[in-house]
Amino acid sequence: MVTANRQPANPDMKTLLCVVGARPNFMKIAPIMRALKNPIYRINAKLLHTGQHYDADMKTSFFDQLAIPEPDIDLGVGSGSHAVQTADIMKRFEPILDELLPDAVLVVGDVNSTIACALVAVKKNIPVVHVESGLRSNDRSMPEEINRILTDQLSDILFTTERCALTNLTREGISANKVCFVGNVMIDTLRHNLPRAAAVATTLGPYANEDQLQAVAEGYGLMTLHRPSNVDDPAALARLLGVLSEISQRLPLVFPVHPRTRNKIAEAGLEQSLKDNGVILLPPMGYLEMLGLMQDAKVVLTDSGGIQEETTALGVPCITLRENTERPITIAEGTNTLAGSDPDAIRKIFEEIMSSGGKAGAIPEYWDGRAAERIAERLQEWLHA
Ligand code: UD1
Repeated sequence: MVTANRQPANPDMKTLLCVVGARPNFMKIAPIMRALKNPIYRINAKLLHTGQHYDADMKTSFFDQLAIPEPDIDLGVGSGSHAVQTADIMKRFEPILDELLPDAVLVVGDVNSTIACALVAVKKNIPVVHVESGLRSNDRSMPEEINRILTDQLSDILFTTERCALTNLTREGISANKVCFVGNVMIDTLRHNLPRAAAVATTLGPYANEDQLQAVAEGYGLMTLHRPSNVDDPAALARLLGVLSEISQRLPLVFPVHPRTRNKIAEAGLEQSLKDNGVILLPPMGYLEMLGLMQDAKVVLTDSGGIQEETTALGVPCITLRENTERPITIAEGTNTLAGSDPDAIRKIFEEIMSSGGKAGAIPEYWDGRAAERIAERLQEWLHA
């Protein structure tokens, strides 16, 4: 569905077309849209949703909970292979740019919607702003790594979340003049919403029995899993779920299951054994429910990028089920430890956290809840220069 809302042109206002597509984009765009509403910024921010994530629990609940305005434009692309999804977004995005003629396009993160819209805009000589630039896992088998490298190459302003992003960008030939260290908008959203985090017992109520609720009240771990490298190969998935099931007998694990993972678990016939080992399976959770679950967990086991950052901001130990991370500050300064997918390594790090409480961690520079304001200030200067 395409519903572009044309506003009368006002020469004193600049139009910024902000793009979102998938779940991790929503918490990044919320504080930016909120900051840009301030009339001191003469920026008319329009919101476009590509439709990459479309389920109510992958999209709608985030828009509602985070008070993100209804998108002005919805491209409705849905799922597909990387090529199909990226191409569909590009084809549907181009006529919107022709009609809206924005002064710039703002993209966030590293999903397929990010690269697709940046590429269309730059070919039309419309400047591109990238929020969360310069993160590198140095693992080109990750689709997000390709999206990050290419989006940064195409961008005119690159907003970064941690200082070492600048080193990555200059190594790739990007001028330091374009790079602006502002901090982490995802943590703006976390700080803004922490007082409204949902109580764990309320979140788990519909999915857990009395015994499970009692056990959880004494301590639980939270796990999430959705990276293709962990879930697409049935043998790798079974191995990971095996060690997580084992851990769940020591500390009950709560597992909100991403749709991609749900499909793979069903295909591999692994759901019953997870339940038999006491893992509490949930559908994808809303933002406030996730915040509550993360905040009170003894440990979080995940392959998500955003959760590595959120656990660092919350001071909760995190075990990352990946061989690398594009967010090294969560390891150097925060509460994160890389475990990869080797069961022995996972067991060992888990036991250390259970016995010592895990790394104390500190809050990284500029993860202070004001990143979106810094972005808005810089955009005002740049768009009106
Ligand atoms: C995407 C991002 C990833 C991000 C993740 C968070 C890319 C390359 N990947 O991965 O960086 O961490 O989102 O969720 O952009 N599906 C539904 N309902 C939905 C959306 C998806 O059922 O609303 C299912 C479909 O079966 C789809 C599969 O999930 O084929 C994967 O969705 P897709 O958008 O291709 O990538 P994600 O794995 O979600």
